[in-house]
Amino acid sequence: MTRRIALLPGDGVGPEVVAEARRAVEALGLAIEWTELPWGSAYWHEHGRMMPEDALDTLRAHDAVLLGAIGDPSVPDHVSLWQTILEIRQKLDLWANLRPARLLEGIPTPLAGRRPEEIDMLFVRENTEGEYSGIGGRAHRTLASEVAIETSVFTRGAVERVLRLAFDLAEERRGLVTSATKSNASRFGYVLWDDVAEEVAAEHPGVRYERVLVDALAARMVRSPDSLDVVVASNLFGDILTDLAAAIQGGMGMAASANVAPGSDAPGVFEPVHGSAPDIAGRGIANPAGAIWSASLMLEHLGEPEAAAALLNALATVCYKGPRTRDVGGEATTREVGEAVAVQVAALSARPR
Ligand code: IPM
Ligand code: MN
Repeated sequence: MTRRIALLPGDGVGPEVVAEARRAVEALGLAIEWTELPWGSAYWHEHGRMMPEDALDTLRAHDAVLLGAIGDPSVPDHVSLWQTILEIRQKLDLWANLRPARLLEGIPTPLAGRRPEEIDMLFVRENTEGEYSGIGGRAHRTLASEVAIETSVFTRGAVERVLRLAFDLAEERRGLVTSATKSNASRFGYVLWDDVAEEVAAEHPGVRYERVLVDALAARMVRSPDSLDVVVASNLFGDILTDLAAAIQGGMGMAASANVAPGSDAPGVFEPVHGSAPDIAGRGIANPAGAIWSASLMLEHLGEPEAAAALLNALATVCYKGPRTRDVGGEATTREVGEAVAVQVAALSARPR
């Protein structure tokens, strides 16, 4: 079966890391048809919008989307992102954002003395509503009375499905779900979240459930990351915690993510967490690990667990032996790392299984 994959390299370092993710996937020798979509900030300058009008239909015609990054200093971020990734997440109803935060051997962590086996968390972020609902407004612009309202929205349906997914995933891991809210200060949305979490926890007696305030959780991630397994959180809390998690796993360049809607046929969108990094764009030094890892998540989601594992193993081997980019203590270029992963993929696939 030929898989149709849309490549959306986007802005900044996006094209550089996506090229290496593609190279690594191609080394697996799967039947894949790639479509490159030239959307993003350059497209906006030319057409006045970030993506064409039928963009969502185009994406729906694919099995998965591999995204680089969106964002350029020449376009306001709230415009570029609300016309691309945030719109795609909402309109394709990609309600879960899965972000593994695992420290690979050979990658330095800023947490003193921590070993790779002590850092293996999986973040499950609600991806369509919460603090990112996009509902609000602004009035009396420029006057002293100017007001802006940004509304958080929590629906039972969306909260329940993401919590269920977190518990299901914990069953396949170490059996702990930590749910992050802030229901001491915010009295409605997060309290609904906590109520639903209790209900879902009751249906999963084999999983240990704990409710932790998000501020305390941030501190715990630094002090005892080994005490965490699956962490489930609202859209904004998941966003903030996963930058912290990325730092713990060696930096933004290492972190991968999967925007998915389990059980639906919407194409998942797989993207490194690092963003467009305009400060280093075009220099060939961005770390492609997050993009390659995201491609592995993509293959897993496409029902290719062996290929996904081979790709992640190849990446892990390269992280261990080098070459590595400078953000993780090496001197290699983006391309050198990508080529090394591709070579490793080929070596792994050549070995009899
Ligand atoms: C991420 C990013 C996005 C988010 C931005 C670019 C809108 O930070 O994927 O974590 O906040 O979701
Ligand atoms: Mn983020």
